Amino acid sequence: MTQAFPLPKQHLSDKVEHFTESVIREMTRRAMQYGAINLAQGFPDFAAPAEIKKAAQDAIAADVNQYAITWGAKDLRNAIARQLKVWQGIEVDPEREVVVCCGSTEAMIATLLAICNKGDEVVVFEPFYENYGPDSILSGAKPRFVSLRPPQAPRGEWNFDEQELREAFQHHTKAIILNTPNNPTGKVFSRKELELIRDLCLEYNVLAITDEIYEHILYDGAEHISIASLDGMRDRTITINGLSKTYSVTGWRVGWAVAPSTVTNAIRKVHDFLTVGAPAPLQEAGAAALGLPPAYYKDLAEKYRARRDHLIPALEKAGFHCYLPRGAYYVMTDISGLGFNNDVEFATYLVQDIGIACVPGSSFYKHPKDGSQQVRFAFCKKPETLDEAAERLQKFRAHL
Ligand SMILES: Cc1ncc(COP(=O)(O)O)c(C=O)c1O
Repeated sequence: MTQAFPLPKQHLSDKVEHFTESVIREMTRRAMQYGAINLAQGFPDFAAPAEIKKAAQDAIAADVNQYAITWGAKDLRNAIARQLKVWQGIEVDPEREVVVCCGSTEAMIATLLAICNKGDEVVVFEPFYENYGPDSILSGAKPRFVSLRPPQAPRGEWNFDEQELREAFQHHTKAIILNTPNNPTGKVFSRKELELIRDLCLEYNVLAITDEIYEHILYDGAEHISIASLDGMRDRTITINGLSKTYSVTGWRVGWAVAPSTVTNAIRKVHDFLTVGAPAPLQEAGAAALGLPPAYYKDLAEKYRARRDHLIPALEKAGFHCYLPRGAYYVMTDISGLGFNNDVEFATYLVQDIGIACVPGSSFYKHPKDGSQQVRFAFCKKPETLDEAAERLQKFRAHL
């Protein structure tokens, strides 16, 4: 047996020094360790649609078991192009402008690797989905954060300052990463906000990378607008999406990037050498998923609204201040009234003593102190799971 020895740091890439492991995935491991309800990581605990599971089984039985075309199975690329036309009025050439990846996670990092050079900057709204920081760093770019400020009014919107955003565009800026509907805030960017971002992209010759993975999870009449559909943006936007959230199949790892052909070619090259391709039978099932009727999406959003309106009153009763989400399936909360020193202490107590895992707010900010009085809960769970969480929250209230 070889002797284990500590490897000196010079064997490692400097890049990995600049970020930590995912806090969200760590909270899932802790939820498993303590038998807690996992309201940390955003994956459903209910079944995926029967039709698409059958389509996956049929594809495996039909021996669609070898590598797909590296940039994606034709049926799926056609379905992606068709859906963008139907939902957003965007015309896309599936032969030249689509890359299917291993989840939108790979689509995002492949995009950044394809467009960024050392010294480039990428504008990111903060709080941010935690992958964007490491993704930028791994691609050699520097993230520059712009604050989304919590609403002041009880049911208000998260907002950004126009001047702060404009200033952020002036530093070797290559791209802005947008995420709408937004994780973790639940913000859905309005047309007016997107037009402002569009104007800055045009003025400073910047690309938009838009993560639209929650596009169909919308509440209270909120409308999802793809920035690529705005005048002038078709040819400077990379639109990222995937099967994970819309079809409740986060473990399938199928996502995509849609971009003008020059950018698509670059992303295809990176993707080919990163992963060769996404799972072939699940791409076929993905084409079937994208063919589900409009009623499917209406039902999806309505069921998520019911889950949101199930969890939030339970949190409020337990003393949390909740920021009402307009989209996606998370609720950001303010814990400053609960008597804990910070979010990590709070999340540790909640998972160990109460049996609920949440995500410490600091993992969504560059400076941990900015999120030290916030935690995020995911409500992509069965009613029974949310009932059990509500009961445990009562226990928490009693302990305070
Ligand atoms: C904003 C956002 N983008 C991307 C992902 C990951 O998506 P995928 O499963 O397609 O890699 C998540 C998952 O939580 C997310 O919240």
